[in-house]
Amino acid sequence: MPTKPKSPYLPFGDQQTAPWYGKDILSVKQFSRADLEYIFSVAHEMRVMVERIGTFDLLKGKILANLFYEPSTRTFASFMAAMQRLGGAVIPIRYSSVAKGESLPDTVRTLAAYCDVIVIRHPEVGSAALAAQYAGKPVINAGDGVGEHPTQALLDVFTIREELGRLDDLTVTMLGDLKYGRTVHSLARLLTRFKNIKLNYVSPDVLRMPRDVIEEVEEKDLPQKEYTVLDKVLPETDVLYVTRVQRERFENLEEYEKAKDAYVITAKTMEKAKDRMIVMHPLPRVNEIAMEVDKDPRAAYFRQMEYGLYVRMALLAMVLGKA
Ligand code: CP
Repeated sequence: MPTKPKSPYLPFGDQQTAPWYGKDILSVKQFSRADLEYIFSVAHEMRVMVERIGTFDLLKGKILANLFYEPSTRTFASFMAAMQRLGGAVIPIRYSSVAKGESLPDTVRTLAAYCDVIVIRHPEVGSAALAAQYAGKPVINAGDGVGEHPTQALLDVFTIREELGRLDDLTVTMLGDLKYGRTVHSLARLLTRFKNIKLNYVSPDVLRMPRDVIEEVEEKDLPQKEYTVLDKVLPETDVLYVTRVQRERFENLEEYEKAKDAYVITAKTMEKAKDRMIVMHPLPRVNEIAMEVDKDPRAAYFRQMEYGLYVRMALLAMVLGKA
């Protein structure tokens, strides 16, 4: 495989010595606790700036290629909004010449000629890493199949920090499709960076957390337990992370039909939860959280989506040498 070529010149104003300049963001495995604290402090500044002035020109003149081979509302739109809030421009691509038989390496080499950073969502595990090998520009993984969704995990942890004011001493319960839900794979890995975290995994038997994720968490000595019902662990939960059962990933639709409504969070369910806790969901939701829960102040999923904008603004500024 070719090594990533270094840019022969630096556009005026880029700080090549900035720690994240030119880096790819492919997996949560690349972040230490200190990195996370840095990212969240930049994201918090972005939040303050957006609340105060809306749009500002930190990335004026920069271009993002937003390359999506899978459906997306939030990730696609929030990366576009992040770039535009920072004064940059976006090439949005949902239908590429891949339909004519072009390979992923050729597609990203083409885009790299026109842009400064590439965001990619693709159905195959490892696709973002492959794109990064050929792009010659920073590549950000916006979800690679059932692999990882690192920017989602970063915004999830940022949400916990902004909402609960701490990232240590937490019981986090993940619920639903833990097998195909790449957000929970990334989140479980990222939570190993913090102290006194306890993880509960609640899922139907066919949708259990993958063995490799459990083993990685085990290596960091985090207590984790698997359950099939929520009742027992809900009262001790600080963060209830609900996921959708992902129909599109099932080979056997009969299995999907059996699993799809295994858990539904209602106002009645919330009666058993702590007063100070949050309910999160990466969205989109289908039936797993009843709409009546939306008005509960503990329902953080729409705020979570907004925090994604600030985290993605921070990441773009970092890899383009402006943070
Ligand atoms: N959470 C998330 O990745 O949502 P989208 O699929 O809409 O981007």
